[in-house]
Amino acid sequence: MPQPARVRPASGTLEIADGAEVAVHGAEPAQVQSIAQRFLQLLAGTRGLHLHMAAADSTHTAITFEVDPHADVAGDAGYRIAVDGHGIVITARTARGAFYGSVTLWQLLTPPGWKSGAPAEVAEGTIDDHPRFAWRALLLDSGRHYQSASDIKKLIDWMSLNKLDVLLWHVTEDQGWRLDIPRYPELVKVGACRKAVGLDSELTGSPDKPYCGYYTEAEVRDIVRYAAERYVDVVPEIDLPGHSQAAIAAYPWLGVTGTRPPVWTEWGVSPWLLNPNEKTLRFVDDVLDEVMRLFPSRYISIGGDEADKQQWNASPEVRAQMQTLGLANMDQLQGWFTNEIAAHLIEHGRTPVGWDDELVAGATLPASQVVMSWHGDNHERVALQAIRQGHDVVMTPQESLYFDHYQSDLPDEWAGPPPAATLRQAYDTIVVPNGASAAEAKHIIGVQGGLWTEQMPTFAHDQHAVFPRLAALSELGWSPAGAHDWNGFLRRMPAELARYRALGIDYADSAFAPAFRVAAAADGKFRIELSNQANFGTIRYTTNGSAPTDRSAPYTRPLTLPAKTSLQAATFAPDGFELAAPRMQALDETTLLGRDGSALATCSHQPASRLDGSRSPGGSKPVYAVDIGNACWLWPRARLDGVRHVALVVERMAWRFGDEAKDAVARRKSSAAGEFEIHTGSCMGPLLASVPLQRAAQATGQTRLEAELAVPAGAGLRDLCVFATGDPRDGQWALERMTFSK
Ligand code: ACM
Repeated sequence: MPQPARVRPASGTLEIADGAEVAVHGAEPAQVQSIAQRFLQLLAGTRGLHLHMAAADSTHTAITFEVDPHADVAGDAGYRIAVDGHGIVITARTARGAFYGSVTLWQLLTPPGWKSGAPAEVAEGTIDDHPRFAWRALLLDSGRHYQSASDIKKLIDWMSLNKLDVLLWHVTEDQGWRLDIPRYPELVKVGACRKAVGLDSELTGSPDKPYCGYYTEAEVRDIVRYAAERYVDVVPEIDLPGHSQAAIAAYPWLGVTGTRPPVWTEWGVSPWLLNPNEKTLRFVDDVLDEVMRLFPSRYISIGGDEADKQQWNASPEVRAQMQTLGLANMDQLQGWFTNEIAAHLIEHGRTPVGWDDELVAGATLPASQVVMSWHGDNHERVALQAIRQGHDVVMTPQESLYFDHYQSDLPDEWAGPPPAATLRQAYDTIVVPNGASAAEAKHIIGVQGGLWTEQMPTFAHDQHAVFPRLAALSELGWSPAGAHDWNGFLRRMPAELARYRALGIDYADSAFAPAFRVAAAADGKFRIELSNQANFGTIRYTTNGSAPTDRSAPYTRPLTLPAKTSLQAATFAPDGFELAAPRMQALDETTLLGRDGSALATCSHQPASRLDGSRSPGGSKPVYAVDIGNACWLWPRARLDGVRHVALVVERMAWRFGDEAKDAVARRKSSAAGEFEIHTGSCMGPLLASVPLQRAAQATGQTRLEAELAVPAGAGLRDLCVFATGDPRDGQWALERMTFSK
């Protein structure tokens, strides 16, 4: 994983056991020696096999790294692994190729069903491998929430084991400037701190303690060096002229209005833009000079996305500049500004990188700029347009490769924006736009996943978002187009997840986790259907309260179970590996009378955002399905026979949704704190209950509210609409669960 370019199996196997010797021959000896040393550490740490470096005169080496610049191996990153009865030889033209060979060899030593410590049986044969694309990237947003330098190094290590080679490091944002630029000390003194609004106070320990963080020169150099040892380039992104509110908070003269905004505490598109004048350009050149000093990468990203032009349009100074330059509109002015910045990078031998937004707006980008295309809608039309304007293009469609998007509709799925981006969607990303000629296709230089961190406050969440979707990305970036095979990918997944587990990666099991569909059956029993998103593996279940094992009953057809049963299910691979941890479904008189908020539809019929709630005193963290700006849910065909009461578990979240405010739906309140109203038929239908929010509005965290119902006689099945009154911009209500009782 990723599938190699060419595999030629032979018959027979070679045993590799503790004490086997590893030798290094040929070019770049120091680098290859440390690659071999790290390979030994990786194998010992994950596989429990302890190999040794061979002495110079050893005659029985089991594994040999052979680096020869003239070897008949494809490209600098290519390698060959030949396994026969005598041993294993990894041949490459460079140390980089030898590194990728060492990663594949580690995988050959951790095949499906591998057991720690036992000798490994490696199938004999030959692998000839090389990457499809040069740019195999993950973007890390350290602006919205930052990660510690040591966590970033872990991520880089894991990226390299998936044969990724670019970390696009997004270090400036509206919500935080995270790179120390000594010439402009206020950038981190002011720009790296924001007020701890909402859940940020859980990270700082108090709403009075700001959320602050930036990377020092020493940390940056350490991260860059660590990445280089693993053949990962760190490409920094200084996002200009939008996403710059933190910079303007530090130096208001960088802005258009002359006033000082706060470092932003909301998410979305900020209206604060840099003033595109000469003084700003000198600042940007200074910043980029420092960036070039810190980052040796050939590529440097200058962003260019989501530059809302309202402040430029409103400024007589900016309008005059546009006219003096003879430009027709503000998109052309952004083009001019970007060209000036790009020229500075090009003068210093660097290649600018940026987003595709201005192509969408009909403007042009600097000719030599690499375009990261995140607008994947309309059949990759923007990427194709970028190629036809002469750019090299990196495909990073938000629809499938933005890993902040949640990855399933499971009740316990983690927070993220809608809609879902499943493992399969990531795997099936179109990397060469339909309609591109063979010559045009050559300008697709790679693929990139996006780890945007608005809803991702912890490294645990980062890991859940990235893995295993990173394996899909890795295969898109590395394997030949002809190797694309979803079922083959799934078959290789259990061994990969076992490696993740051995590495200590907190990956998501969302694609494999059992989902329960419960309906009423005769005689007060329940009919339950189980399924999983990837439709892979065997779901096994228990009804006696124990956790399922790989010997528990396999699910083959819908179950009929009595009340007071605790049903547990988990998913297992053919080799017995647990693909998904057990999930539980209680079956009792409340099961069909209650619904989690995440199982309700939104009134807009748009997919909901999943938002973290406050951590409870017990330490658990709820996740709510919320249509931001419209606290309104639908429960079609709820069974109301004999019900008398309703209980709602609700929480009010801080409004942090920036430009989504324009779509907020306010509803008339009947009391100062507002209420949850439940209506039958439609949202304007008869009122079933009104639940006052006074107590919940004053609470932090969840509140359980109860009310009596005005149930019409012979109610039966009714469509329900439940909504919070008031203005969501004063606090966005979330609904954990709604339960009727008799
Ligand atoms: C982006 O997602 N704004 C590049």
